[in-house]
Amino acid sequence: MEFRCTSTPASSWSGDTLAVGLYSGSTGPLKAVLEERFGAALLERLEQRQFKGKAGETLRFDWLGATPSVLLVVGLGEPAEFGLAGARKAAASIAKAAQGQGCTSLGIALPVEGLEPQAAAAAIAQAVRLSLFNDQRFKSDAEPKPLPAAVELLGFPQAGAELLSGLDGLCSGVELARELVAAPPNKVTPQALADCAAAIATEFGLELKLLGRSDCAALGMGAYLGVAQGSDLPPQFIHLTYRPQGAVRRRVALVGKGLTFDSGGYNLKTAGSQIEMMKYDMGGSAAVLGAARAIGQLQPEGVEVHVIVPACENMISGGAIHPGDILTASNGKTIEVNNTDAEGRLVLADALVYACGLEPDAVVDLATLTGACVIALGDEIAGLWSPSDALAGALAAAASQGGEQVWRMPLQASYREGLKSGVADMKNTGPRPGGSITGALFLKEFVSPGLAWAHLDIAGTVWSDKGRGLDPAGATGFGVRTLVNWVLAGAPA
Ligand code: BES
Ligand code: MN
Ligand code: ZN
Repeated sequence: MEFRCTSTPASSWSGDTLAVGLYSGSTGPLKAVLEERFGAALLERLEQRQFKGKAGETLRFDWLGATPSVLLVVGLGEPAEFGLAGARKAAASIAKAAQGQGCTSLGIALPVEGLEPQAAAAAIAQAVRLSLFNDQRFKSDAEPKPLPAAVELLGFPQAGAELLSGLDGLCSGVELARELVAAPPNKVTPQALADCAAAIATEFGLELKLLGRSDCAALGMGAYLGVAQGSDLPPQFIHLTYRPQGAVRRRVALVGKGLTFDSGGYNLKTAGSQIEMMKYDMGGSAAVLGAARAIGQLQPEGVEVHVIVPACENMISGGAIHPGDILTASNGKTIEVNNTDAEGRLVLADALVYACGLEPDAVVDLATLTGACVIALGDEIAGLWSPSDALAGALAAAASQGGEQVWRMPLQASYREGLKSGVADMKNTGPRPGGSITGALFLKEFVSPGLAWAHLDIAGTVWSDKGRGLDPAGATGFGVRTLVNWVLAGAPA
């Protein structure tokens, strides 16, 4: 798929599939275009077919041998509510309606006059590309659905190529994250994550440091290694570095939970606890590796980016940690493991200490950390915790720019009580109520005081059972767009 912005309007565009957006009641600036090009009969036909212009509604008209041979009319909802999110939603509906219909060139006309051109072009093009992503790697009878060779965004100012300069880099990062998350735990192992990081390093010139078990032991990473010790697969602690050309104005660390499978350990996950889905427990690592790939391709100026993944499995064996074990993390803090299924915070503890050791200006971690966050926010919204209003605001802005949803949650200091241990500095698990908050408070113990840090709990958003908007059913690649947009904005905090 080649994407292009063009000043050609819908009234004169020639290609095979033309998509045109109308507001509720079939109104809006493109109504006249439809009338001019297809005649008043078309508008009557819209009414006959009870087209209401509701957001996401599509109607299709076919002509044999004409240009265009297909017209897709897409509903946009109320004009007052139409913005970037509406453009994204409409573009995804258009793409899905056009797909598999032999469409070779797709022209998209939406009322973007009131929107910032760059943001609108990015939103529309990302939605088309990402909603058509179709992963059939594990099907022996894979039948790839043909994609339009060319997608043109109509009615944009000239100099259109620049408007879409970041598209391929960003989308490739999201797609990589989706592929990593969707692949099963016998394929995406800690070694496979390390290999993926190595491939990114080679292709885009990033630096790679891999720490094995003994390297991590030398650094005192007892919490991370405790989780890893029950698995036959060795842990891989991954550290990728992107160094920009020219001056470094900001240095940031992106940390991703990399549990390639989470059985729960001796606090074994039972039926109904989604144990068979715990391949996605490396969704945080997929997001930061996807971001690394995008950043490597896009080569943003001024920001040095460290991507850190503590990768391992949480398994059961004679060598696995026992519930009740006391582990010592690399900052010297001791942890009573009262629940082996709260393993994400243990691996992140050592990864956060390591990240803070790089003396960055900001640290952002992403993790499928708690079922409690899924209960609180569902599968469309990630939880965001940060002591820094500036960093929380910057990440929320980057998320919204990319069409990802986050909601700020409190670092309620009094709930730290829930992590008190009689025998160690803390337990790894607090009471069930507020479980996503105590998870975040646990992580905070491993972040240097005063450092701008944010934690995103993506347990709900990493996967979409039915698919939504521009996410097909399955792995969403959540977090890549937020992280990349934030870094491209200069990583403000
Ligand atoms: N990986 C899970 C969290 C999870 C649950 C992600 C469901 C996606 C869907 C995490 O390691 C976990 O098991 N958390 C426990 C924490 C509890 C023991 C404090 C949980 O949420 O039940
Ligand atoms: Mn767990
Ligand atoms: Zn987990």
